[in-house]
Formats: sequence, structure tokens, C-alpha cells
Amino acid sequence: MQDLRELNEAIAAIKQEILDHAGELESSRGVYEFKKGFLDSKKGKLSQLMKEMRNIPNESKAEFGKNVNAAKEWAVNFFEELDTKLKAEELKRRYESEKIDITMPAVQPKYGNLHPITTVRNQLTEIFASMGFEVYEGTEIETDFYNFTALNTPQDHPARDMQDTFYLSPEFLLRTQTSAGQIHVMQSKKPPIKVVSPGKVFRSDDDATHSPMFSQMEGLVVDEGINLCDLQGSLNMFVQQIFGEQTTTRLRPSYFPFTEPSVEVDVSCFQCGGKGCKLCKGTGWIEVLGAGVVNKKVLENCGIDSEKYSGFAFGLGLERIAMLKYGINNIKLLFESDLRVLDQIDD
Ligand code: DAH
Repeated sequence: MQDLRELNEAIAAIKQEILDHAGELESSRGVYEFKKGFLDSKKGKLSQLMKEMRNIPNESKAEFGKNVNAAKEWAVNFFEELDTKLKAEELKRRYESEKIDITMPAVQPKYGNLHPITTVRNQLTEIFASMGFEVYEGTEIETDFYNFTALNTPQDHPARDMQDTFYLSPEFLLRTQTSAGQIHVMQSKKPPIKVVSPGKVFRSDDDATHSPMFSQMEGLVVDEGINLCDLQGSLNMFVQQIFGEQTTTRLRPSYFPFTEPSVEVDVSCFQCGGKGCKLCKGTGWIEVLGAGVVNKKVLENCGIDSEKYSGFAFGLGLERIAMLKYGINNIKLLFESDLRVLDQIDD
């Protein structure tokens, strides 16, 4: 038979053991492991004590059970408090170690920006899209037929000399003008037609204002009763958004095989307002694009009834627009990808 007094001492010894070692615990995890040694339902020291129940006289059983349960309750509370305390300390240590100095100057990320030609192309596309134009992107390799013949430039026509062409074969060539896209559009779509066609074009040409590869945007409108006034109205809307609200246009007679009549379009100088300056070479006007009323022969080449329908077309160089807009004097600066130049142009 076990003596109740001895068992009570054993309970007190277990409590003391807990108190003696609790100070060594540093983490919530440590508390958990240590606690198991006393409260684990099978192996815990306090749980084990209950097994002594069968060795003590009946009259002491109730008291012993009460004492063990009280000790268990005490231990549960003790470990809970200790756990809360250690968790708080752990959190505090974590906050300390992860502290950041929000007054420290941040590392400045280097932002890229769009190339000026892409920016101009996007701006022009948006302006024309807002006027109801669709976008057609043609191909850079074209046939002689689409680039010249269907645009009313027969084989021996002197107009072919206006553009020095890179031929890939007698039939295939690198398109010299986005005008080739007009034919594809008119062949595949019935009027009303309203498209712009941006893209790269190629010519054997190389100086301060010309590059063998450059970008154009073609515009084409075909419907009943379209005339030169519609052309100028649309172009006015466009130049005012690109060069400023005060900008106006002036049409001068010109020649293109695919338009009749053909015009060169000048804009009033947006730098001097038309008074005359270096940019407009004292004239008050700057040439920006070629345009005209679509030649009846071109409509008919595409199977469009030229008695019923008429149209206007225009073609502009995106590099030229970018050079004017950003004050760039050499086209090469747009192709060299020198970041010192490109970083200055951010629209
Ligand atoms: N294709 C001409 C060129 O590259 C530009 C042009 C002029 C396009 C008049 C047109 C136009 O559509 O009507 O020089």
C-alpha cells in the first residue's frame, strides 16, 4: 500500500521540477515538448501518478485523485501562461529582426519607354480609330502587282523611278509604300471602306532624312460621294491632335499615279504659328504627307464601281512626323537605339 503523504510529496516534487526547468525554455515549441513529459495522457508524469490509485487505501483515493487533478490543472495553466509569454517574446524578436527603415532612399527602378516611332504610330492609330477607321496590317514582302501595277503604275511608267525598289525576284519585292495595302483592302471589302494601314517600307535611299527602312501609315476611305473636302476635314482633325489645335492644312497640287487629283499636304508651322522660322524654313508651312482622290482606274482594278463610289487616300511617313514632333534633325537617331537620345523622348 502506498502512503498518501508520500504520494502528495511526489506531486509536489513534480511541480517543483516544472518550476525548476521552466526558466530554461525559450520557445513555444520548447514548452510544448517539455509539457508532454508531464501532461501526455499516457507517458506524462502526472498522468502516470494516477496509476498509483490502485495502490492506495480506498478512503484516501478521493483525496489523492483531487490532488493529482489540481496539480494537472495548475500545470495546464502554468504552461499556458508560459507559452503566451514566450510567443509574445518570439514575435517581438521577429519584429526586431525584420524591422525596415522606411526613411532609407529606395532603389530607383529604371523604366523603359516606347520607341518614338511606336508612340507616334500608336497615337495616329488611336486618332484614326476614334474617327471610325479600322486597322489593316499588310505584309512587308509584296508582289510587283500590288506595290505598283494595281496602283496604276504600269511596268514602263516613269513613276516607278520615284521609288528605288529592293527586288527579291522579278515578281517579289520589299514593299516601297503601304499603298499596296489599299489594293488588298479594296479586293476583300466592299465600300464603305475606312482603314489605316501602318507598317515598314523599304527603299534604296540613305541620307539625313531618308533611311532604307522606314515606316508609313496609309489611309483609305471609299464610299459614295467622297471628295477632297472629306480628305482635308479628316486630315485637319488629325493634325490638330498631333501638332496642336491651332494647326491648319494647305493642299498643293502634286502627282501620284494612284490618285487624281493628287496633293501634297502642308501643315501650318506649329513652332512659329505660321510667321516663318527655321523649322519651316521661313515659309510658315511644313510638308507632311501625300494624298488625293483615289484614281478611278485603281478602284476599277479592284472591282469597285467608280461611277457609284469614290474615295480619298493619303500616305505619311511616321519618322517624319516623329522628327517634327520631337525636334529630331537626323533620321539615323531614330534607328541607332542610343538610350541617351531615346530617354529624352518620353511622351
Ligand atoms: N505612297 C506614297 C509614297 O510613298 C504616299 C502617298 C501619296 C500615299 C498619296 C497615298 C496617296 O495614299 O494618296 O510616297
